[in-house]
Amino acid sequence: MADQHPGPVQTHGSRTAELVAVSRARHLLRHQPPYIFHDPFAYQFLSKRWKRILGSWLRDAFVSKILLRRLMPITTQPLTRARFTEDCLLAAIEDGVGQYVILGSGYDTFSLRHPGLDVTIYEIDLASTIALKRERAVAAGLALPDSLRLIPIDFEQDDLADRLTAHGFDPEKRSFFNWLGVTYYLSRDAIQDTLNRVCGITCPGSEIVFDYLAESNSIPEDERPRAQSMKNYVGKLGEPMITSFDPASIKADFDAGGEWEVVRNDSPADQQKRYVEGRGDVYDLPPLFWCLHLRRRG
Ligand SMILES: C[S@@+](CC[C@H](N)C(=O)[O-])C[C@H]1O[C@@H](n2cnc3c(N)ncnc32)[C@H](O)[C@@H]1O
Repeated sequence: MADQHPGPVQTHGSRTAELVAVSRARHLLRHQPPYIFHDPFAYQFLSKRWKRILGSWLRDAFVSKILLRRLMPITTQPLTRARFTEDCLLAAIEDGVGQYVILGSGYDTFSLRHPGLDVTIYEIDLASTIALKRERAVAAGLALPDSLRLIPIDFEQDDLADRLTAHGFDPEKRSFFNWLGVTYYLSRDAIQDTLNRVCGITCPGSEIVFDYLAESNSIPEDERPRAQSMKNYVGKLGEPMITSFDPASIKADFDAGGEWEVVRNDSPADQQKRYVEGRGDVYDLPPLFWCLHLRRRG
C-alpha cells in the first residue's frame, strides 16, 4: 500500500541503504550456506552499477579488495543485526505481535520473504529512498504485498506517531519496531525523540531492536584507528555517523522514565560468537556496533 505524501527534498535514495543491500546480495553470491541472513531479493534492489560489479568476480574483487577495502570489515554487521532482529521478531509474531514497524527501512525485504504471515508491516524512510525502492521493485517485477505500508518521513522533522496512526497503526495492539543502521546517523535529540514517540504509541509488551555505535572510549584502544577510518569513509558517502553511546550506560541514557525493560544488550563479541565464529568466509565483526532489544513494561 502506498503513501503519496511528499517528503523532504532529496535527489537520490540512501547510499548506505544500498550498501546494506549489496552486503546481503553479496553474501548469497560469494559466501557459503548456511547463510547468516538469507535475502534472495536484495540483488533486485541494487543499481545497474552494483549488479554489474557483483555479476563479475573480477570487478567484485577489484571493488572489495581495492576500492572499498576499508569499508569491507563492516559488511558482516548488516547481516548479523538483521538476523538477530528477525529472530526476535519471528518469536514475537509467534507470541501474537501483529504489527511490524521498520524505521529507516531502506531496501528491507521482510514483506517479500514472508508473504504468508498475518502481520501488517510499516516501512518508514526518507521519501527519496521509498521512491527508489518502489521504482526498483516495479522494474524487477516484484509486487509489494498489500500488508505493506510505505511511509515517507524525516525523523529529524516529522511526527512519527501521527504518520503511523494515519496509516492504520493501532497503538493498542502489541507491535515490534526494527530500527537498524540508523541511530548513528541521527542527532542524540532525534534518537531520544523517536524513542519517546515509539513509547507513546505502543502498549506494554511491544518491542524494539536497534543497533548503536559504541563510544570511542569503550572500543579497545588498538581498534580505534580502524573504527575512525570506517567512520570517515561512511561520512564521505554523505551520511556521517554523528552519535555513539557507552554500552555500559545506554539504558540510563534512553530510559529515564523506566518504561523499557532491556531484553538484551548484544555486544559485537556476542554476535561474533553466535553467527560468525568458525565460518572463515566473512569478515569478523569489528567491535563497533551493539544491538539493543527493549520491551515495554506492563
Ligand atoms: C544504513 S541504512 C539502513 C537500512 C535498513 N534499516 C537496514 O538495516 O538494512 C539507513 C537508513 O536510514 C534512513 N535515514 C537516515 N536518516 C533518516 C532520517 N532523518 N529520517 C528517515 N530515515 C532516515 C536512510 O534513508 C536509510 O534508508
